Amino acid sequence: MSAAHLVRQEAAMSSTYPDSATLEKLVSAAVAAPSMHNTQPWRFRLAADAPTLEIHAERALPYEDPHGRALHLAAGAALFNLRVAVAHLGWKPVTRLLPDPDRPGLLAAVRIARQANARALHATDLYDAIWRRHSSRLPFTEEAVPGLVLLDLVEAAQLEGAKLTVPTPHEVERLLRVTAQAEHRSHDDPYRSVESRRWTCRDEPSDSGIPSDALGPQDAFERMPMRDFSAQRSQERLPSRPFERTPTLACLATGHDRRSDWLRAGQSLQHVLLVATAHGLRTSLLHQAMEWPDLRSRLGNPTAAFDHVHMLIRLGYGPEGAPTPRRATRMFLDLDEASTPEDPGA
Ligand SMILES: Cc1cc2nc3c(=O)[nH]c(=O)nc-3n(C[C@H](O)[C@H](O)[C@H](O)COP(=O)(O)O)c2cc1C
Repeated sequence: MSAAHLVRQEAAMSSTYPDSATLEKLVSAAVAAPSMHNTQPWRFRLAADAPTLEIHAERALPYEDPHGRALHLAAGAALFNLRVAVAHLGWKPVTRLLPDPDRPGLLAAVRIARQANARALHATDLYDAIWRRHSSRLPFTEEAVPGLVLLDLVEAAQLEGAKLTVPTPHEVERLLRVTAQAEHRSHDDPYRSVESRRWTCRDEPSDSGIPSDALGPQDAFERMPMRDFSAQRSQERLPSRPFERTPTLACLATGHDRRSDWLRAGQSLQHVLLVATAHGLRTSLLHQAMEWPDLRSRLGNPTAAFDHVHMLIRLGYGPEGAPTPRRATRMFLDLDEASTPEDPGA
């Protein structure tokens, strides 16, 4: 963000609105959210008419996420972080999803209002968790996740409009088998493999993608289908270790499958991940089956009200995952640029 832009904007704002350092902090909190392959598929702009931060789509994954659903999940997660940070800093986030049908790339707008609303989001605990949450693709211990903690996670998802269910061990086995099938298919698909490799296992330092120390091993028991980002699937070349024998999974679903539902699912996902982190849990995501429509439909219960599954979340206790990089904060105040329609692929 250019200093001149900021000075102009700040002059237009009341002094009771956040200053430029605060706005940068808000965006840093937003971009700490998870995104598929750590593409960070978002761009933030400060609208001129009010202290409103807009989230725009960019950096699609055309083969693995042709409709942009995963992109919307990531943007929804960033939006949730932004809401938490706004509340933590004493403001009230007023959120609109997909506020302008003529600008499909504008995914959400958050007006930063004066009235504090921090308590509604338990903003301090969750704000701290924003900076501590990382995916952990390492084996977890066999320690069970307490039922009361799982109830908190279910409630967190519900508050954002999605449903989180904790499947039985028998059902977990089935979900893992479907995920393993998706993992094999993706590996055999040359376009998807190349796309995945492009974002991971980079030799040179990068501000995006997944560094090799965050990838984690494969399961030596071959039960937990951890994503092979390098698309190599060769036991000789990939390290393997025994994973937990009784994994805890949670399944996140919505009642409909529109772009607004994807954004709600992303906010739910992030609320769940932050509550889990605040409880000392580690998490990692299993999204492979979501990338094949026929397999995705096998994850949900067609007779249930919430049958559009968006994510399987692996929960447990164990080592912290390695951090992943983030791009430098980017905010644009140019209204002409902000009004350019973008197509997020949905
Ligand atoms: C829509 C979506 C799909 C993802 N799919 C997977 C996955 O299948 N396997 C995995 O290990 N991580 C998955 N992730 C996690 C990302 O790889 C991770 O968030 C990103 O690398 C940033 O790292 P961090 O979570 O540690 O901040 C996914 C994240 C999102 C938002």
